[in-house]
Amino acid sequence: MYNLLKGKKGIIFGALDSNSIAWKVAERAHEEGATFVLTNAPVALRFGTINELAEKTGSQVIAADATSVKDIQNLVDKSMEILGGKIDFVLHSIGMSVNVRKGNHYTNQNYEYTKIGWDISAGSFHKVLQVLYNSKAMNEWGSVVALTYMAAQRVFPDYNDMADNKAYLESIARSFGYFFGKDRKVRVNTISQSPTMTTAGSGVKGIDGFINYAEKMSPLGNATALECADYTISLFSDLTKKVTLQNLFHDGGFSNVGISSEIMEGFMNDKEEDS
Ligand SMILES: NC(=O)c1ccc[n+]([C@@H]2O[C@H](COP(=O)([O-])OP(=O)(O)OC[C@H]3O[C@@H](n4cnc5c(N)ncnc54)[C@H](O)[C@@H]3O)[C@@H](O)[C@H]2O)c1
Repeated sequence: MYNLLKGKKGIIFGALDSNSIAWKVAERAHEEGATFVLTNAPVALRFGTINELAEKTGSQVIAADATSVKDIQNLVDKSMEILGGKIDFVLHSIGMSVNVRKGNHYTNQNYEYTKIGWDISAGSFHKVLQVLYNSKAMNEWGSVVALTYMAAQRVFPDYNDMADNKAYLESIARSFGYFFGKDRKVRVNTISQSPTMTTAGSGVKGIDGFINYAEKMSPLGNATALECADYTISLFSDLTKKVTLQNLFHDGGFSNVGISSEIMEGFMNDKEEDS
């Protein structure tokens, strides 16, 4: 390990179980010398296994519903007390669509569900940033990262209203990142990760197909959760101080490939059989 986060303090949202991307980020941040508070929604604390992670990384857990400004304020205030100072890094690793959960098609949304999903997946990011900003809770050259998916730019029909939520999330990173950069020298970025088998990932219809297709399209293959954690650590470190307002693809090259020879082969064989 490289001691990349030695002495840094953070808040990590979204570790539900050992498959969670946030779980791997917490493990890697611990290895790199950081101290941090873990947080998740009260219901997730009951059903998940976050205490195991807390023990392993010597962290405290504070419950916070990321749609509640009151909960976030309490989390930020208590984290500064526990960690003994301002925060250097924050991971927003939160996503949920009620329409997806209930099996509503994109063209047949229940807008009450749409609002809840938007608030959890995108609005919460603005709330977290706003509380951090107004509380002057971040150290200069701190770094905030949220996780996103390429359905914000291109159509993946079964990603449903999460595609719109991710587009909004990425826009918040730019818009808030401007003020956080100018006024406090804090970076705000999103990482656009390959499809990954986690609780949130497995909620997407046809995730197996997504994963296999992306694997064949990406010159380097899909990025794993652990590799995503490594990339996140680099963005929390002092090695990326001038990277901000970016949506950074971490997908083995998938986002810039039109077609790969592996995918092409399938079509060539079909054609030969037809003729
Ligand atoms: N798995 C993938 O294929 C993939 C790909 C790209 C991006 N992402 C993104 O990565 C992030 C993390 O997801 P994951 O794949 O690790 O799955 P995950 O299910 O392990 O994590 C999602 C987390 O969101 C939390 N959450 C839900 N509602 C909340 C609320 N109201 N307040 C606080 N927390 C709440 C859950 O408890 C859970 O810990 C999400 O933003 C997801 O969209 C995932």
